[in-house]
Amino acid sequence: MTERITKDMARNIYFGGGLFAILVFTGLTFDTVNRIPELSHESKITKSVIAGKKVWEENDCVGCHTLLGEGAYYAPELGNAFQRLGGSDKQGFRDYMQGWMAAQPLDIPDRRKMPQFNLTTKQVNNLADFLMWMSKVNAQEWPPNIQG
Ligand code: HEC
Repeated sequence: MTERITKDMARNIYFGGGLFAILVFTGLTFDTVNRIPELSHESKITKSVIAGKKVWEENDCVGCHTLLGEGAYYAPELGNAFQRLGGSDKQGFRDYMQGWMAAQPLDIPDRRKMPQFNLTTKQVNNLADFLMWMSKVNAQEWPPNIQG
């Protein structure tokens, strides 16, 4: 005797399996959305962080740099710039950013250049705060190394 899948069985597998997949997908979507505030530690988004993000957008930093891998691959990843350049020291990083932004473009032959943006001290501090907030986003071990 050969066992065959009847039309009824096929229909049940189709609808049952489909419904199961939709439930799993919906559940995982809710789980992810619920965890975003914690992963992005949004409670730490200060006015200065918001202002820094504006400076970042208005000057198209993302046209050359990436944040957590998103952006252009011309210049270094900056999602972890705080750990890499500031040694995770807040004032140290702010000072580094002031010096770095003021010194562009560096006059070093055969090296990619970053433009001079003529930003104010306050704007650069905002940028530093934005990048410090960025560096604390829980990106599940991304980028994989300190170089980005
Ligand atoms: C036209 C491309 C370009 C744009 C736009 C740009 N950068 Fe850069 N940036 C570079 C390049 C190239 C380097 C690497 C320069 C070097 O190492 O000498 C760099 C390096 C940096 C570094 C140091 C990174 C490190 O690991 O050494 C910081 C911080 C930085 N940029 C911040 C910014 C910010 C903030 C903006 C927006 C206001 C910005 N950049 C816009 C090209 C750009």
